Amino acid sequence: MLNTSTTIIFGADGYIGWPLALHLGSRDNDKIVLVDNLSTRKLVKSVKSDTLIPIKSMKERLSEYSRQTGKKNLTYVEADAQDPKTVDRIIAKYKPDDIVHLAQQRSAPFSMVDQEHILYTELNNVATNLNILFSMIRHVPKAHLLKMGSMGEYGTPGVEITEGDLEITRKGKKAKVMFPRMGGSWYHLSKIFDTYNVAVANRFYNISATDIMQGVVYGNRVDEITNDALATRFDFDSIWGTVINKYVVQAVLLNKLLIYGKGKQTRGFLSLYDSINCLTLLRDNPADAGQYRVVNQIDEIYDTLQLAEKVRKIAVEYGIEADMENVENPRVESEQHDYQVEHKILPSLGFRKEKSMETVLREIFEDVLKNKKRAVAMKKLIYPTVYWRTATSMQVKDFAMPRDLMNTVKERKK
Ligand SMILES: NC(=O)c1ccc[n+]([C@@H]2O[C@H](COP(=O)([O-])OP(=O)(O)OC[C@H]3O[C@@H](n4cnc5c(N)ncnc54)[C@H](O)[C@@H]3O)[C@@H](O)[C@H]2O)c1
Repeated sequence: MLNTSTTIIFGADGYIGWPLALHLGSRDNDKIVLVDNLSTRKLVKSVKSDTLIPIKSMKERLSEYSRQTGKKNLTYVEADAQDPKTVDRIIAKYKPDDIVHLAQQRSAPFSMVDQEHILYTELNNVATNLNILFSMIRHVPKAHLLKMGSMGEYGTPGVEITEGDLEITRKGKKAKVMFPRMGGSWYHLSKIFDTYNVAVANRFYNISATDIMQGVVYGNRVDEITNDALATRFDFDSIWGTVINKYVVQAVLLNKLLIYGKGKQTRGFLSLYDSINCLTLLRDNPADAGQYRVVNQIDEIYDTLQLAEKVRKIAVEYGIEADMENVENPRVESEQHDYQVEHKILPSLGFRKEKSMETVLREIFEDVLKNKKRAVAMKKLIYPTVYWRTATSMQVKDFAMPRDLMNTVKERKK
């Protein structure tokens, strides 16, 4: 088989990483190296939850991929990207043309459980990012880094969020500055550190990087997920689930949709199909040599009440009547605000939405209903348990961090 290029995906066992690997691998003969330490599987279990849609081991996934496609261009390396030497060995060995960095603790509520969870989130996320950056600089300085940030880094500033620098005027003088970032959780703060670290690495070492500010992703299918053996994870509990995915499960299990506060919090959303298509477009159209490019990766903007209305309408097609239930907002966030986002780069590269939100919602309902028995067993995980203002303990016993994932932290303290 003729390999045309090599891409390493850090975080390839995850919700987004696995479908991205499937998509890039199936498309052509590129070599795709999948790196993961399986931490999300463990961390979700640590709060007594699990992916609603069962997922196979990486070995089973890869053998099913090869059976379906007849290809062997995906290689899996189980490794912790917090370890600098490990990351260095992987990047030196595979000399990738592109590096996709998704390997982070990605739940805002999880980062807010207690001090130990904050520490884990920030150390893990900052370390994985710096390790990848420095190994890239040493071994493949001309490679393109696709770093996954979050729209949540910006917070809700009340003015249009620019895609890239903001032009300001101060005392009659003009300047361009990075758009302010006012993330609303310790997790988002870790993503902000990453943004600054990537931007500085670009400034000091001239690397080529795309820093993606991604909206909230929903759905669980892409075209390459053709059967259960290739499924990607689907989290629905109050700590790990994202809002649309959670709403569908709430409708099915509770006949209710839990609205945080007044439901006027507004965000950008995109389906898993679109997330994968955007990442693929950005990989195929890299930042210029030495360019630091910020891309806002969203498709539609809604408040959480509007989303609930959409879910409620589709629920009826499945014989489900769901009421709205207002619950105390566990987060510290602006309850009503303006939200506008500039997003021109992806459309200029040819991005078009693959399926309507309604179509994707139907797919989610079908898969959730198929796994309803499994969901019933985890029903009590739906209501919020982590409240921003009171998350100040050193260690919450019910949600103890897996000790093996805290080892690195312990070693640093010695
Ligand atoms: N899902 C969303 O709605 C969303 C929205 C915006 C941004 N993001 C970002 O996209 C990226 C992927 O998110 P996801 O939803 O697929 O999350 P995920 O938790 O399903 O995937 C992340 C993967 O990274 C792995 N990982 C974490 N730390 C690691 C380490 N030290 N070494 C090796 N592997 C490690 C995990 O095991 C997991 O498989 C994250 O950076 C997240 O912050 C996600």
